[in-house]
Amino acid sequence: MSKKIRIIGVIGYPIKHSLSPVMQNAAFRAAGLNYRYLPFEVKPEECFRFIRLLPRLGFAGINITVPHKETAYNSVDYLSREAKLAGAVNTIKVHNKKLYGTSTDGEGLLRSLKMDADFVVKGKSIIILGAGGAGRSIAAYLATKGAERIIIANRTPGNALKAVALVRKASPLTIVFAIKLKDKFVRFYSNTSDLIINATSVGLNTNDTAVISHKAIRKGIIFYDLIYNPEVTSNIKEAKKGGAKTYNGLGMLLHQGAVSFEFWTGKKAPLSVMKRALQKGLREAP
Ligand code: ATR
Repeated sequence: MSKKIRIIGVIGYPIKHSLSPVMQNAAFRAAGLNYRYLPFEVKPEECFRFIRLLPRLGFAGINITVPHKETAYNSVDYLSREAKLAGAVNTIKVHNKKLYGTSTDGEGLLRSLKMDADFVVKGKSIIILGAGGAGRSIAAYLATKGAERIIIANRTPGNALKAVALVRKASPLTIVFAIKLKDKFVRFYSNTSDLIINATSVGLNTNDTAVISHKAIRKGIIFYDLIYNPEVTSNIKEAKKGGAKTYNGLGMLLHQGAVSFEFWTGKKAPLSVMKRALQKGLREAP
């Protein structure tokens, strides 16, 4: 193990409950890398300056979480294709005093779908509930990975239409349109779809009312909730009741972390160590 300690951080506001430090520190240890991963609470008004100072502060890289992903997009020297697609940056690498930004969320979801649900996106029909930052970026990413049809169901139609425009630009041959976030419309298309993803923020609180009911779910469809805490969200409960095979977002968290690890270190991520650390961190979370 080399002696020089390299610092990687995660910035957010607030940052208290991030599981990334336990996951990444376990990964660095297992890979024999002398890196330390630390959380930093950075206020929105300080974010741009903090990021620009990373090379001088000696950081090897950072992760960026809510609400800084767009500021990070506007702060780096170079953007990857994935970052441009997402319009957001959640991972920065410092190299030769320059900042390289990427987004690992889309690839994290793709890998989780493959490894957890044995689901290959190419040629599939997908309904995405939600058109915020998360919904838009995964819609564009899944379209470029060969999804045949993407349907955006969102409470505010204007936001759904923005997501549709983004997908069209990213992947002109993908069939894409918006529908209302109502049981009867989601049900109509769920009959000919393979996967429903919840990318709304509904379900973060245990007493949230689900965005759709079991009536909107086709039996046997895959339902993937990007939320991982609580483990069983109100949307997952409804989806289960409707006969879906359900997954929460823990797998995506794991795999986006693995993609970030690879971006910083150039090494393959020690997945099983990271998964165990995440599960332990989650059990111990308040
Ligand atoms: P994120 O970065 O997690 O995507 P966001 O950009 O704030 O967060 O987006 C939140 C998403 O959850 C949006 O799609 C939002 O719908 P609107 O575009 O209509 O605002 C959705 N959302 C939040 N609260 C909701 C609710 N009570 N019912 C339905 N959708 C909701």
